[in-house]
Amino acid sequence: MNNNKDHVPFLDMSRMPEAQRRKIADAIAQITSQGNYVLGEEVDTFEKAFATFCGTKRCVGVASGCDALLWALTAIGVEPGDEVITVANSFVGTLLPILRMGAIPVLVDCLDDVLNIDPDQVAAAITPRTKAIMPVHLYGQPAEMDEILALADKQGIAVIEDAAQAHGAAYKGRPCGSMGTAAGFSFYPAKNLGAYGDGGGLTTNDENLADRVGMIRNYGQSRKYQHDIVGWNSRLDTMQAVILSAKLEYLAAANDARRAVAATYRECLADLPVEMPVEREYVEHVYHQFVILVDQRDDLQAFLGKHGIQTGIHYPEPLHKLKAFSDEKFAQGSHPVTEATAGKLVSLPIFPGLTAAEIERVRKTVADFFGKS
Ligand SMILES: Cc1ncc(COP(=O)(O)O)c(C=O)c1O
Repeated sequence: MNNNKDHVPFLDMSRMPEAQRRKIADAIAQITSQGNYVLGEEVDTFEKAFATFCGTKRCVGVASGCDALLWALTAIGVEPGDEVITVANSFVGTLLPILRMGAIPVLVDCLDDVLNIDPDQVAAAITPRTKAIMPVHLYGQPAEMDEILALADKQGIAVIEDAAQAHGAAYKGRPCGSMGTAAGFSFYPAKNLGAYGDGGGLTTNDENLADRVGMIRNYGQSRKYQHDIVGWNSRLDTMQAVILSAKLEYLAAANDARRAVAATYRECLADLPVEMPVEREYVEHVYHQFVILVDQRDDLQAFLGKHGIQTGIHYPEPLHKLKAFSDEKFAQGSHPVTEATAGKLVSLPIFPGLTAAEIERVRKTVADFFGKS
């Protein structure tokens, strides 16, 4: 924790209710005293609790969000050469599982008001080789799921939700992670529900799919030394599971706190020359990030940094512009909204425990930058 009162951290994970801190410490102590560190009852308990939280029949704990998406694609039978449609405005963790499968990512642009995948472009991108659509609930705001689910249903295509940033978010009352064929969550520490290391979870209402992923993550075993399918080692640690179980109890309150910070930013930045992605009236946004768009992004970010305010950029390069993919055919397309916004985005500090004084400091510094204070 940085105690400099002039410093506003982008994220301070050490701020949490004292009862939560104690609960986590007790859970860790219990694990070190019993000495089981991989899978076990504690992982089962977390999986059940997270499935209940998401309104799904099952959750399978895995090693990361990337793996959760990878195993979802594996379990629905994606084959090399199949096409998977997703959005250019996302983190690379959305794209890599598709490439790992030997599948062809078909990138489409995002909507310019919410910055989430554009369903009309999804419709136009569907071909007989499309195996799945992978909407991303970016920044904690659910994608336009009615349109996407209707398209998928009509064409018999799977929907794999990238819910890595959307723990507790909901679309027209339906929790993220419960709407598609399966969903991948990340429990990377900085996420709304974060472990103390890497972790991920696949949620689904398909019991067979969950059983299959339960085997895949554990060397393809149906029981010890009985390897029925070709699997991998991609398990959620017992220690991470107890930490996640302890934190899950506080997730709804933590998301409320993020929403309150976002509401204050929306109000106090409204008169400044900054744009903010729209929050749809029918969603429960969980504000994993609070993003604004400004023409002079680099100057604003440098100004905020000089005044002790840490910010982020999510993300500086669209997926199709990343160096790693420069030779790939999918990277040759153009996605104008994603490209235009990538140069304007800046993410402001948002986390449970961010104080009113810190929010005011952010507002004042942004206002100062525009000469409006
Ligand atoms: C949108 C998105 N997809 C996928 C991932 C991958 O998750 P992980 O880092 O846990 O592998 C992340 C997180 O980093 C993400 O933000």
